[in-house]
Amino acid sequence: MTDQIKVSIASDHAGFDLKAEIIKYLKDNEIDVIDRGPNKKEPVDYPDFASKVTQDIINQSAQKGVLVCGTGQGMAMAANKKPGIRAALCYNDELAKLARKHNNANILTLGARVINQNTAINVVNTFLNTNFEGNRHIERINKIG
Ligand code: RB5
Repeated sequence: MTDQIKVSIASDHAGFDLKAEIIKYLKDNEIDVIDRGPNKKEPVDYPDFASKVTQDIINQSAQKGVLVCGTGQGMAMAANKKPGIRAALCYNDELAKLARKHNNANILTLGARVINQNTAINVVNTFLNTNFEGNRHIERINKIG
């Protein structure tokens, strides 16, 4: 799989079970994971957990992030407030591929209530294994700020 990247992951209560499955998948595939919680399934506020993963990306403790909530929307909104973060809500392979190729997304957000587990794992796999195309897309993502 991907060479030597570290993935920071967090969820809220709605994404808790899917987060556990993704962590298992990543560990089974020898990907280094930083689990930023929560560590139990109690109601929490997704922005608090989004900011833990965005911090890991910003300070380069991790190269990629995964954030799971009910829809993936709240996590994407919270993460995208942080400079340098390009979080993409993806619910199929094609979106994950293009979010990496064209947008150089550094965080994948998933909606546990709207995606099944197998699809989610495929999306994670595609996200982590697709490279940014660069070229004309560099100037465009730089304009995002
Ligand atoms: C929690 O009920 C839910 O609002 C949250 O997981 C997420 O979907 C927000 O965008």
